[in-house]
Amino acid sequence: MKGLSGLAEKKHRHERIVMVTAYDYPSARVVERAGVDVVLAGDSAATTVLGYETTRAVSIEEMLMLTRAVRRGLTTTLMVGDLPFGTYEDNDDLAVASARQFIDIGCDAIKLEGAGPMLKRVEALVAAGIAVMGHVGLAPQHARTPEDFRARGRDAASAVSIVNDAIALEQAGCTALVIEAVPSNVTEVVMQRVAIPVIGIGAGPATDGQVLVYHDLLGLLETRPAKFVPASIRALSTRTRCSPRRSSRSIRVFERTSRYADGGSSGGSPALRLKKRSAAATAKNASPIHVKRLSSTRWP
Ligand code: KIV
Repeated sequence: MKGLSGLAEKKHRHERIVMVTAYDYPSARVVERAGVDVVLAGDSAATTVLGYETTRAVSIEEMLMLTRAVRRGLTTTLMVGDLPFGTYEDNDDLAVASARQFIDIGCDAIKLEGAGPMLKRVEALVAAGIAVMGHVGLAPQHARTPEDFRARGRDAASAVSIVNDAIALEQAGCTALVIEAVPSNVTEVVMQRVAIPVIGIGAGPATDGQVLVYHDLLGLLETRPAKFVPASIRALSTRTRCSPRRSSRSIRVFERTSRYADGGSSGGSPALRLKKRSAAATAKNASPIHVKRLSSTRWP
C-alpha cells in the first residue's frame, strides 16, 4: 500500500481496512506477515504490556521505545504512532514537537484523541506536514475510572456531537479516523457525512475497516475479551489464549526438558526446539487466520 493514500484507495474500492496494534518487534513481525493494512503502535500498550491502570499513565519515552521496536519489525506496512496523554493537548508547538519524535522514528502518521480544542492541534500538525488520524467516540485518554469506559453517543446530544466531531476533524485535515464504542446507527451517520477512511472498534459494521488490539485478537490477556471482540475471534483466540493452565503446562515441560540443554547440539536444546516450534506455529497458523477473520467478520 502506498502511504496513507492507500487507505483512501481501499475505501474507494470498498475493500475492508484492517488495522491491528503492535507494541514490540515480534508482534510487528506477526501482524505484517499476516497482511494487515496498518499497524498502530497504540498507547493501549499502557494497559496491555506495561501493566498500568489506564492509558493516561504511559510516558512519551515509553511510547517511543515501544514504537521503535515496532518500526524494526515492519518493512512495508503503514505504521501509525499514538501521541500519549499530556504530550499534545496544551498547545500547537508541543503537539508538533511530540509528533515529530514519532515521525522521526519512521511513523507514517500519528493518532490523537478528541476534537474541540484538538482541532487546532490537528491543523498545526497538518501544516507541519504530519499526517493525522483522529479518534472520536470513546477516548480512552479521557477515562479515569472503569465506568468511564462506556459506549458514547447513546443519547441524541452525544450522538450529534460525535458526528460533528468527525466532520470537524476531517475539515481540520485528518487523513483517517478511528471511531470507538458508539452505536451502529451513529456510525452510519458519520459514514454518510465524512469522506475519509473510518476505522471502527466497537462501532458496528458500517465503517471502512476495523481495528483490534493485538492481545484481544490473539487472546493474550488473562481477562475476558472486551464485549466488542466478535465471537468468531474469541473462538479462534482460545487456541493461543494465555491461560494459567496452559502456561503452567509449558513451564512444567520446560522444567523437564531444560535439564538436557547444553546449547551444543545442532538443533538446539529440547526447550529451544519447543520454543521455536511454538513461535513458528503462532506465526504460521494463528495470526493470518485471525486477520482474515477480522476483515470478513460480522461486527457488533
Ligand atoms: O491505543 C489503541 O490501541 C487505540 C485503538 C483502540 C484504536 O487507540
